[in-house]
Amino acid sequence: MKRIIGISGSLRRGSFNTALLRAAAPLMPDDAELVIESIAEVPLYNFDVESSDGIPDPVARLQDALEECDGLLLSTPEYNNSMPGVLKNTIDWLSRPPDDIPRVFGELPVALMGASAGAYGTILSQVAWLPVLRTLGTEFWSGGRLQVARAKDVFDDNGELIDEAIRGRLEKFLAGFVDFLS
Ligand code: FNR
Repeated sequence: MKRIIGISGSLRRGSFNTALLRAAAPLMPDDAELVIESIAEVPLYNFDVESSDGIPDPVARLQDALEECDGLLLSTPEYNNSMPGVLKNTIDWLSRPPDDIPRVFGELPVALMGASAGAYGTILSQVAWLPVLRTLGTEFWSGGRLQVARAKDVFDDNGELIDEAIRGRLEKFLAGFVDFLS
């Protein structure tokens, strides 16, 4: 069974990106599972804190989860035509100390998807992630794309995916990424 860690880049309760991840879990191929991890407990990065106290527990736990998984699926919002600070902050913490980058990220297969309220479905945010993922030595999967636009029409008030076309595209996207892992 392949294990994929799913991380949403939004902290808000009604997040479309978290809803997209939740919708993905039951659509995974039979030979894979999606384990959704939260970034809510990750503090703001501060070199002084790292120097005096080391890596915070929520960060160390995520680092171990990434080391042990087969792939990472990021569900990223778009803020001001780029990635959201809370998710970048998490990735920055996860990249510490630099000697651990190969253990945590080296050759880690990574897929990007995202949902936005606007018409372009996080395309600029997804592009903004590419140099970060390259810098960390991940294996970015570019075999599929999933940009969910006008998310208010795609999820209901409970965060359930109600757009069948998007469900089909999500399932195909997940199958493609899991294929890439083998
Ligand atoms: C946004 N939003 C947004 N949407 C978009 O398509 N392009 C953008 O550049 C931005 N910029 C932006 C900046 C900031 C600071 C906020 C708070 C929001 C809207 C965004 O897509 C919307 O809030 C989504 O609902 C965010 O994702 P979650 O929280 O629903 O997962």
